[in-house]
Amino acid sequence: MTKTSKYQSRQSDDQGMIHWSAEENQIWHELITRQLSVIEGKACAEYMAGLEKLQLPQDRIPQLEEVSQVLRECTGWECAEVPALISFDKFFELLANKRFPVATFIRSREEFDYLQEPDIFHEIFGHCAMLTNPAFAEFTHTYGKLGLAASKQDRVYLARLYWFTIEFGLLNTADGLRIYGGGILSSPGETQYALGSDIPERKVFDAVDVLRTPYRIDIMQPIYFMINSIDDLFDISQLDMMQLVNQARALGLHAPKFPPKEKQAS
Ligand SMILES: [Fe+2]
Repeated sequence: MTKTSKYQSRQSDDQGMIHWSAEENQIWHELITRQLSVIEGKACAEYMAGLEKLQLPQDRIPQLEEVSQVLRECTGWECAEVPALISFDKFFELLANKRFPVATFIRSREEFDYLQEPDIFHEIFGHCAMLTNPAFAEFTHTYGKLGLAASKQDRVYLARLYWFTIEFGLLNTADGLRIYGGGILSSPGETQYALGSDIPERKVFDAVDVLRTPYRIDIMQPIYFMINSIDDLFDISQLDMMQLVNQARALGLHAPKFPPKEKQAS
Protein backbone atom coordinates (compact mmCIF):
# COMPACT_ATOMS: atom_id res chain seq x y z
CA MET A 1 0.00 0.00 0.00
CA THR A 2 1.52 3.26 -1.10
CA LYS A 3 0.54 6.66 0.19
CA THR A 4 -0.43 8.11 -3.14
CA SER A 5 -1.81 6.56 -6.28
CA LYS A 6 -2.46 7.88 -9.73
CA TYR A 7 -5.16 5.27 -10.06
CA GLN A 8 -8.75 5.50 -9.04
CA SER A 9 -10.97 2.49 -8.47
CA ARG A 10 -14.11 2.12 -10.54
CA GLN A 11 -17.33 1.90 -8.60
CA SER A 12 -19.93 -0.77 -9.11
CA ASP A 13 -23.49 0.11 -10.05
CA ASP A 14 -26.63 -0.75 -8.02
CA GLN A 15 -26.39 -4.35 -9.21
CA GLY A 16 -22.78 -4.63 -8.07
CA MET A 17 -21.53 -4.58 -11.66
CA ILE A 18 -18.50 -2.63 -12.78
CA HIS A 19 -18.59 -1.32 -16.32
CA TRP A 20 -15.07 -1.73 -17.60
CA SER A 21 -13.98 -0.12 -20.84
CA ALA A 22 -12.93 -2.14 -23.88
CA GLU A 23 -9.32 -1.05 -23.30
CA GLU A 24 -9.40 -2.20 -19.67
CA ASN A 25 -10.82 -5.58 -20.69
CA GLN A 26 -8.14 -5.82 -23.36
CA ILE A 27 -5.39 -5.17 -20.80
CA TRP A 28 -6.82 -7.94 -18.61
CA HIS A 29 -6.89 -10.24 -21.64
CA GLU A 30 -3.25 -9.60 -22.44
CA LEU A 31 -2.14 -9.91 -18.81
CA ILE A 32 -3.97 -13.16 -18.14
CA THR A 33 -3.08 -14.93 -21.37
CA ARG A 34 0.60 -14.07 -20.97
CA GLN A 35 0.69 -15.02 -17.31
CA LEU A 36 -1.16 -18.33 -17.80
CA SER A 37 1.64 -19.48 -20.06
CA VAL A 38 4.39 -18.13 -17.77
CA ILE A 39 3.18 -19.92 -14.61
CA GLU A 40 2.89 -23.33 -16.23
CA GLY A 41 4.96 -25.82 -14.24
CA LYS A 42 5.91 -23.03 -11.81
CA ALA A 43 2.75 -22.36 -9.80
CA CYS A 44 1.96 -24.90 -7.08
CA ALA A 45 -0.73 -27.53 -7.57
CA GLU A 46 -3.05 -25.83 -5.06
CA TYR A 47 -2.90 -22.62 -7.05
CA MET A 48 -3.66 -24.43 -10.31
CA ALA A 49 -6.59 -26.22 -8.64
CA GLY A 50 -7.87 -22.83 -7.48
CA LEU A 51 -7.63 -21.37 -10.98
CA GLU A 52 -9.59 -24.35 -12.27
CA LYS A 53 -12.33 -23.60 -9.75
CA LEU A 54 -12.42 -19.87 -10.52
CA GLN A 55 -12.68 -20.30 -14.29
CA LEU A 56 -11.61 -16.72 -14.79
CA PRO A 57 -12.70 -15.14 -18.06
CA GLN A 58 -9.87 -14.26 -20.42
CA ASP A 59 -11.68 -11.77 -22.63
CA ARG A 60 -12.87 -9.41 -19.89
CA ILE A 61 -12.23 -8.44 -16.27
CA PRO A 62 -14.34 -10.68 -14.02
CA GLN A 63 -17.01 -9.15 -11.82
CA LEU A 64 -16.12 -9.53 -8.14
CA GLU A 65 -19.32 -11.44 -7.45
CA GLU A 66 -18.32 -14.16 -9.91
CA VAL A 67 -15.12 -14.73 -7.95
CA SER A 68 -16.86 -14.37 -4.57
CA GLN A 69 -19.36 -17.10 -5.43
CA VAL A 70 -16.55 -19.62 -5.85
CA LEU A 71 -14.64 -18.43 -2.77
CA ARG A 72 -17.74 -18.61 -0.56
CA GLU A 73 -18.30 -22.21 -1.56
CA CYS A 74 -14.67 -23.23 -1.03
CA THR A 75 -13.59 -21.35 2.10
CA GLY A 76 -16.24 -18.78 3.05
CA TRP A 77 -14.19 -15.87 1.72
CA GLU A 78 -15.37 -13.15 -0.65
CA CYS A 79 -13.93 -10.19 -2.50
CA ALA A 80 -14.46 -6.67 -1.21
CA GLU A 81 -14.50 -3.74 -3.62
CA VAL A 82 -12.14 -1.06 -2.29
CA PRO A 83 -10.56 2.22 -3.44
CA ALA A 84 -7.00 2.22 -4.81
CA LEU A 85 -5.73 3.13 -1.33
CA ILE A 86 -7.09 1.89 1.97
CA SER A 87 -5.86 2.30 5.53
CA PHE A 88 -4.15 -0.53 7.40
CA ASP A 89 -7.10 -0.57 9.81
CA LYS A 90 -9.48 -1.19 6.94
CA PHE A 91 -7.17 -3.76 5.36
CA PHE A 92 -6.92 -5.85 8.52
CA GLU A 93 -10.60 -5.44 9.33
CA LEU A 94 -11.55 -6.86 5.92
CA LEU A 95 -9.18 -9.83 6.22
CA ALA A 96 -10.40 -10.51 9.77
CA ASN A 97 -13.88 -10.84 8.27
CA LYS A 98 -12.76 -13.11 5.43
CA ARG A 99 -13.16 -10.34 2.87
CA PHE A 100 -10.28 -9.93 0.49
CA PRO A 101 -9.75 -6.31 -0.58
CA VAL A 102 -9.70 -5.85 -4.35
CA ALA A 103 -8.94 -2.38 -5.64
CA THR A 104 -11.12 -2.09 -8.72
CA PHE A 105 -8.71 -0.53 -11.16
CA ILE A 106 -6.43 -2.10 -13.71
CA ARG A 107 -2.91 -0.95 -14.54
CA SER A 108 -2.26 1.31 -17.48
CA ARG A 109 -0.32 0.14 -20.50
CA GLU A 110 2.69 2.19 -19.37
CA GLU A 111 2.91 0.02 -16.25
CA PHE A 112 1.98 -3.23 -17.95
CA ASP A 113 4.94 -5.20 -16.56
CA TYR A 114 5.33 -3.69 -13.18
CA LEU A 115 3.42 -1.47 -10.82
CA GLN A 116 3.71 -1.03 -7.08
CA GLU A 117 0.02 -0.62 -6.35
CA PRO A 118 -1.93 -3.87 -6.31
CA ASP A 119 -4.50 -3.73 -9.10
CA ILE A 120 -7.41 -6.06 -9.82
CA PHE A 121 -5.22 -8.38 -11.88
CA HIS A 122 -2.78 -8.82 -9.01
CA GLU A 123 -5.52 -9.35 -6.44
CA ILE A 124 -7.65 -11.77 -8.44
CA PHE A 125 -5.11 -13.64 -10.52
CA GLY A 126 -2.40 -13.48 -7.85
CA HIS A 127 -4.35 -14.19 -4.69
CA CYS A 128 -7.90 -15.41 -5.23
CA ALA A 129 -6.95 -18.81 -6.64
CA MET A 130 -5.03 -19.54 -3.42
CA LEU A 131 -7.97 -18.34 -1.33
CA THR A 132 -9.90 -21.40 -2.50
CA ASN A 133 -7.41 -23.45 -0.45
CA PRO A 134 -8.43 -24.04 3.21
CA ALA A 135 -4.93 -23.75 4.71
CA PHE A 136 -4.09 -20.58 2.80
CA ALA A 137 -7.52 -19.13 3.64
CA GLU A 138 -7.16 -19.95 7.33
CA PHE A 139 -3.70 -18.42 7.46
CA THR A 140 -4.90 -15.22 5.77
CA HIS A 141 -7.87 -15.01 8.16
CA THR A 142 -5.64 -15.46 11.21
CA TYR A 143 -3.28 -12.85 9.85
CA GLY A 144 -6.15 -10.37 9.52
CA LYS A 145 -7.27 -10.94 13.11
CA LEU A 146 -3.71 -10.55 14.43
CA GLY A 147 -3.18 -7.39 12.44
CA LEU A 148 -6.45 -5.86 13.56
CA ALA A 149 -5.47 -6.29 17.20
CA ALA A 150 -1.79 -5.33 16.78
CA SER A 151 -0.12 -2.00 17.52
CA LYS A 152 1.30 0.10 14.71
CA GLN A 153 4.81 -1.07 15.62
CA ASP A 154 3.84 -4.74 15.68
CA ARG A 155 2.10 -4.39 12.32
CA VAL A 156 5.46 -3.60 10.74
CA TYR A 157 6.65 -7.06 11.85
CA LEU A 158 3.44 -8.74 10.72
CA ALA A 159 3.79 -7.12 7.31
CA ARG A 160 6.98 -9.16 6.80
CA LEU A 161 5.08 -12.35 7.54
CA TYR A 162 2.52 -11.43 4.89
CA TRP A 163 5.19 -10.41 2.43
CA PHE A 164 7.22 -13.63 2.63
CA THR A 165 4.17 -15.93 2.49
CA ILE A 166 1.04 -14.57 0.82
CA GLU A 167 2.98 -12.30 -1.53
CA PHE A 168 6.32 -14.05 -2.13
CA GLY A 169 6.06 -17.55 -0.69
CA LEU A 170 7.65 -20.58 -2.33
CA LEU A 171 6.81 -24.24 -1.86
CA ASN A 172 9.52 -26.90 -1.77
CA THR A 173 7.76 -29.92 -3.25
CA ALA A 174 9.02 -33.40 -4.21
CA ASP A 175 8.75 -32.25 -7.85
CA GLY A 176 10.83 -29.14 -7.22
CA LEU A 177 10.21 -25.54 -6.23
CA ARG A 178 6.78 -24.11 -6.87
CA ILE A 179 5.21 -20.70 -6.25
CA TYR A 180 2.22 -19.85 -4.07
CA GLY A 181 2.88 -16.14 -3.45
CA GLY A 182 0.58 -13.83 -5.40
CA GLY A 183 3.21 -11.11 -5.82
CA ILE A 184 5.26 -13.57 -7.84
CA LEU A 185 2.39 -15.25 -9.67
CA SER A 186 1.05 -11.97 -11.05
CA SER A 187 4.46 -10.87 -12.36
CA PRO A 188 6.03 -12.54 -15.42
CA GLY A 189 9.56 -11.37 -14.64
CA GLU A 190 9.51 -12.46 -11.03
CA THR A 191 7.87 -15.82 -11.86
CA GLN A 192 10.91 -16.66 -14.00
CA TYR A 193 13.41 -15.15 -11.56
CA ALA A 194 12.03 -16.65 -8.33
CA LEU A 195 12.47 -20.23 -9.56
CA GLY A 196 15.00 -19.95 -12.36
CA SER A 197 17.63 -17.51 -11.18
CA ASP A 198 20.67 -18.26 -9.01
CA ILE A 199 20.62 -14.75 -7.61
CA PRO A 200 17.98 -14.96 -4.86
CA GLU A 201 18.59 -16.82 -1.63
CA ARG A 202 15.91 -19.38 -0.77
CA LYS A 203 15.60 -20.07 2.93
CA VAL A 204 13.56 -22.61 4.83
CA PHE A 205 10.65 -20.83 6.49
CA ASP A 206 11.21 -19.91 10.09
CA ALA A 207 8.73 -17.45 11.58
CA VAL A 208 11.20 -15.45 13.69
CA ASP A 209 13.67 -15.33 10.81
CA VAL A 210 10.92 -14.01 8.52
CA LEU A 211 9.84 -11.39 11.04
CA ARG A 212 13.45 -10.13 11.19
CA THR A 213 13.96 -9.88 7.42
CA PRO A 214 13.60 -6.45 5.80
CA TYR A 215 12.25 -6.19 2.27
CA ARG A 216 11.73 -3.67 -0.48
CA ILE A 217 8.61 -3.57 -2.59
CA ASP A 218 10.16 -2.10 -5.71
CA ILE A 219 12.81 -4.68 -6.62
CA MET A 220 13.02 -8.38 -7.41
CA GLN A 221 13.31 -10.09 -4.06
CA PRO A 222 16.82 -11.09 -2.89
CA ILE A 223 15.35 -13.64 -0.44
CA TYR A 224 12.42 -16.04 -0.59
CA PHE A 225 11.19 -18.32 2.16
CA MET A 226 10.07 -21.87 1.39
CA ILE A 227 7.51 -24.03 3.13
CA ASN A 228 7.17 -27.75 2.39
CA SER A 229 3.44 -27.92 2.01
CA ILE A 230 0.57 -25.47 1.79
CA ASP A 231 -0.82 -27.22 4.86
CA ASP A 232 2.18 -25.82 6.79
CA LEU A 233 0.22 -22.57 6.70
CA PHE A 234 -2.31 -24.19 9.05
CA ASP A 235 0.49 -24.83 11.55
CA ILE A 236 1.93 -21.34 11.13
CA SER A 237 -1.48 -19.85 11.84
CA GLN A 238 -1.52 -21.77 15.14
CA LEU A 239 1.76 -20.23 16.34
CA ASP A 240 1.76 -17.59 19.04
CA MET A 241 2.77 -15.02 16.46
CA MET A 242 2.78 -11.98 18.73
CA GLN A 243 5.16 -13.75 21.07
CA LEU A 244 7.39 -14.45 18.06
CA VAL A 245 7.17 -10.77 17.10
CA ASN A 246 8.54 -9.94 20.56
CA GLN A 247 11.37 -12.41 20.03
CA ALA A 248 12.15 -10.91 16.63
CA ARG A 249 12.20 -7.43 18.13
CA ALA A 250 14.58 -8.53 20.88
CA LEU A 251 16.93 -10.15 18.36
CA GLY A 252 16.83 -7.21 15.95
CA LEU A 253 16.50 -7.03 12.18
CA HIS A 254 18.81 -8.81 9.76
CA ALA A 255 21.04 -6.62 7.65
CA PRO A 256 19.24 -5.92 4.36
CA LYS A 257 20.39 -7.92 1.31
CA PHE A 258 19.56 -5.01 -0.96
CA PRO A 259 20.95 -1.53 -1.49
CA PRO A 260 19.11 1.28 0.24
CA LYS A 261 16.42 2.91 -1.83
CA GLU A 262 17.77 5.93 -3.64
CA LYS A 263 16.31 9.14 -2.42
CA GLN A 264 14.09 10.70 -5.05
CA ALA A 265 15.21 14.09 -6.17
CA SER A 266 12.74 16.66 -4.92
FE1 LIG B 1 -0.96 -8.76 -2.91
